[in-house]
Amino acid sequence: MRLAAAIIGTVTLYAAATHGQKQVPLVGGDQKRRPNVVFVLTDDQDVHLSSLDYMPLLKKHILDEGTYFDKHYCTTAVCCPSRVTLWTGKASHNTNVTNVNPPYGGYPKFIAEGFNNNYFPVWLQQAGYNTYYTGKLFNAHTVNNYNSPHPGGYTSSDFLLDPYTYDYLNSTFQRNGEPPRSYEGRYGPDVLAEKAYGLLDEAVHAANNQPFFLTVAPIAPHANVIMKGDPQDGSHEVVFTEPISAKRHQHLFPNAKVPRSLNFNPDKPSGANWLLQLPQQNASEVAYNDHFYRQRLRALQSVDELIEGLVSRLEAYGLLDNTYVVFSSDNGFHIGNHRLPPGKSCGYEEDTNVPLAVRGPGVARNYTADIVTTHTDLAPTFFELLGIPLRDDFDGTAIPMTRADIEEAGRARREHAGIEYWGFALGEGEFSQVQIELNTYKALRISGPGYSLYYAVWCTNERELYDMTADPYQLHNLLRPSSLSNSSSSSSFPLLAAHPLPKLLSRLDALLMVLKSCRGATCRRPWDQLHPSGGVHALEDALAAEHDALYEEAALPRVRYEFCANGYLREAEGPMWEDREVVGRERNKGKGEYMRDGLRWEDWV
Ligand SMILES: *[C@@H]1O[C@H](CO)[C@@H](O)[C@H](O)[C@H]1NC(C)=O
Ligand SMILES: *[C@@H]1O[C@H](CO)[C@@H](O)[C@H](O)[C@H]1NC(C)=O
Ligand SMILES: *[C@@H]1O[C@H](CO)[C@@H](O)[C@H](O)[C@H]1NC(C)=O
Ligand SMILES: *[C@@H]1O[C@H](CO)[C@@H](O)[C@H](O)[C@H]1NC(C)=O
Ligand SMILES: *[C@@H]1O[C@H](CO)[C@@H](O)[C@H](O)[C@H]1NC(C)=O
Repeated sequence: MRLAAAIIGTVTLYAAATHGQKQVPLVGGDQKRRPNVVFVLTDDQDVHLSSLDYMPLLKKHILDEGTYFDKHYCTTAVCCPSRVTLWTGKASHNTNVTNVNPPYGGYPKFIAEGFNNNYFPVWLQQAGYNTYYTGKLFNAHTVNNYNSPHPGGYTSSDFLLDPYTYDYLNSTFQRNGEPPRSYEGRYGPDVLAEKAYGLLDEAVHAANNQPFFLTVAPIAPHANVIMKGDPQDGSHEVVFTEPISAKRHQHLFPNAKVPRSLNFNPDKPSGANWLLQLPQQNASEVAYNDHFYRQRLRALQSVDELIEGLVSRLEAYGLLDNTYVVFSSDNGFHIGNHRLPPGKSCGYEEDTNVPLAVRGPGVARNYTADIVTTHTDLAPTFFELLGIPLRDDFDGTAIPMTRADIEEAGRARREHAGIEYWGFALGEGEFSQVQIELNTYKALRISGPGYSLYYAVWCTNERELYDMTADPYQLHNLLRPSSLSNSSSSSSFPLLAAHPLPKLLSRLDALLMVLKSCRGATCRRPWDQLHPSGGVHALEDALAAEHDALYEEAALPRVRYEFCANGYLREAEGPMWEDREVVGRERNKGKGEYMRDGLRWEDWV
């Protein structure tokens, strides 16, 4: 049953709410019949550096009153690609917006890919919703290109624009058709809060009385960025510094430090590829990074207040019971983990596991869900909550929201997140404004009964596999030569989830192979591609001995790259599932051509 339908009987249609002096006429309004959504989308907010612990108002108004999704992942760990995924319901390999700036990404690429009249807010308007947005939409959405064309689909909007998007003290907004306006000297996130309250007021008073979807996208806790030039043509320069807080928060948390987890600035290098070259951070770098960390927490205080401001206004309008309040972040963040300078863009848990919390009609209070969910699921989830039929080209699936539905979803729901990245990574902050190339990879995060794994293939064809039950901080790559020195015969393969590694790898790689170019239903049910006759829904099913022959077959393509590219270039991507020799499987059957001793290490490392 749709939640929207479930609540009709219980809401009071005649609640009068006050805002200022005005009496708000809500009588019979559609805003009482169909649910509204207020979505707060932060920028670069971590789960694993404990930022949520410093947001008491988020806890009070959303976590205690709603459900937290513990295994929520972004699928591309950087702002613009991740936001385009959110607003289209498609993985980056299907949007081909894979970077923050042109030619591979940014607002101009979003426009060039034809999404401006075919994405989330447009679809919502078609379904009878009023749509509102304030804050950062995409990167490279600038004071020069904001009107060519203007972002489609919004009833009313007030966007932050480059090159001032991350300039906390000179935020520059652009409202509806008006020219950009600078708020120099004011604290950007507080300006944003005022705009959010203004848009909420507009939404509540809309003459057509339609229900609304309001997105508020603060820049906190992103770094402060001074940008010179225009990112649209790549002629710009950027300087990242620590985030800036409002004056009233500047002395908070004087003793807070980046959590010293096992992968914090470790004595031995960890990860793969360029990470293995990172030097250990020295005392001044660590001290600066702790400062950077505190500034993030301080900047987040304005977001925390914003949440309370939104919730209390919804309550005053009499709309809180009929509004989903959703909180998430475009991607995660690391500081010092694996010796990394502050930044994102990696596939590791710090960068990809992001907060998702929801309160609203039918949503369980004070509950933590551990089903795997991703940003590709959010557009379908909103559709489902608002009673709009799902689109067939959504790569994700709606997230169940009631406790009963979440529990029922359990094993039946997809248990993996497909993660992908193209291009560079950037160190942020005083010591490390370096651009790191070769940061192109595909990865799979999978969590099921008895296993919790991360498998990645880099564009250098290096591979990583972490057993995250035993190694949650991803320090021991089971596919590094040192881990393999004694693995020449299959009897000495380490066992993982009670299976020899090559066997497990064959399944993980095949799943990643399908996911890296999946579309729509293929992304939602990738195992069906490998098992067209059905019966396999999870890794555990695929590991059954009866499927060994299929996975050990030489004709099954393996994930690998031809070369490292900064964008999604077909020729760099190696074998594609849809191009596989479909007859291969049949041809080999019964001819004894399977590798006799199972897969060889040489096929994997
Ligand atoms: C939330 O649940 C925990 C136990 O799971 C309990 O200790 C806590 O008091 C609850 N909080 C609220 C606000 O209900
Ligand atoms: C602040 O932003 C405006 C554009 O909105 C720009 O004209 C002005 O130069 C900026 N001020 C500073 C100090 O960067
Ligand atoms: C740490 O390294 C930075 C360069 O990254 C250097 O500027 C600084 O002086 C070093 N500090 C110490 C204490 O060695
Ligand atoms: C590999 O096996 C040899 C002989 O069995 C043993 O001496 C050696 O310690 C092993 N090395 C590793 C890295 O496990
Ligand atoms: C993605 O976009 C880039 C830049 O426009 C283009 O070169 C590339 O061919 C596109 N990739 C695919 C798979 O269409």
